[in-house]
Amino acid sequence: MSAVNASRDRSVQNMFDRIAGRYDLLNRVISFRLDTRWRRQAIRAALTGARPRILDIGTGTGDLVLNAAATAKGNGHFVGLDFSLQMLNLAQAKRARTRYAASTAFVMGSAMFAPFKNSIFDGAITSFVLRNVSDLPLFFAESFRVLKPGGKFVSLDMFPPAASWFAELYSIYFYCLVPSIGGWLSHDRKAYQYLSDSVRQFHPPEKVAQLIREAGFEHVAVRKFLSGAVCMHVANKPSGPAR
Ligand SMILES: C[S@@+](CC[C@H](N)C(=O)[O-])C[C@H]1O[C@@H](n2cnc3c(N)ncnc32)[C@H](O)[C@@H]1O
Repeated sequence: MSAVNASRDRSVQNMFDRIAGRYDLLNRVISFRLDTRWRRQAIRAALTGARPRILDIGTGTGDLVLNAAATAKGNGHFVGLDFSLQMLNLAQAKRARTRYAASTAFVMGSAMFAPFKNSIFDGAITSFVLRNVSDLPLFFAESFRVLKPGGKFVSLDMFPPAASWFAELYSIYFYCLVPSIGGWLSHDRKAYQYLSDSVRQFHPPEKVAQLIREAGFEHVAVRKFLSGAVCMHVANKPSGPAR
């Protein structure tokens, strides 16, 4: 049975509509620009084969999918899906300024009911979206459905780091300072308190790997950055018939 929580989804959608104008700036400031490096790693993991069809789920302002198109020099089809109109408006504006606009497109819709046919993408990528989703098993099932057999799933997200001296420092920064910095720069402290809380309350990366496996993916691997504060999950849709 679906666990989609429509009112939670609406409030996430409204929040991203509200903060869209400051979203990119805050990303760069809060992550000390490391987000751009992690995105490059995710793109490298996802781009396999010539002229791939890639879907970026929860594309936001489009950084991941536009960078993927640029990395592939426009060879392929690159689609960004999101349910926040304001985030997508910014993504469209960026798209219009890129060399590879013709190979990219943005679609408004829900990741939980992705408006695409079965088995049409070679890769599904997603960054910093999982914590915002009310029904993770459905999110992974939809990602699986739209991928071709053998297709690649790559997710980048923030997690509570494993206990260590780094985790102590990280807690002070991410759980105490980030809501204030975010509130100050975006004039929306609630949104950045939500960011901090969503990380603190999120599953460990191993649980996310298990959910990905339960959706039918195989070869699920987890790569950890910053002592696990950011993790990249990589998985494959089996190329043969379902077992
Ligand atoms: C933290 S932002 C990440 C944006 C982008 N992927 C990035 O790396 O900067 C999360 C995005 O996911 C979108 N999102 C969250 N839940 C969604 C859902 N159920 N369907 C579609 N988009 C969703 C939000 O609107 C927002 O743009």
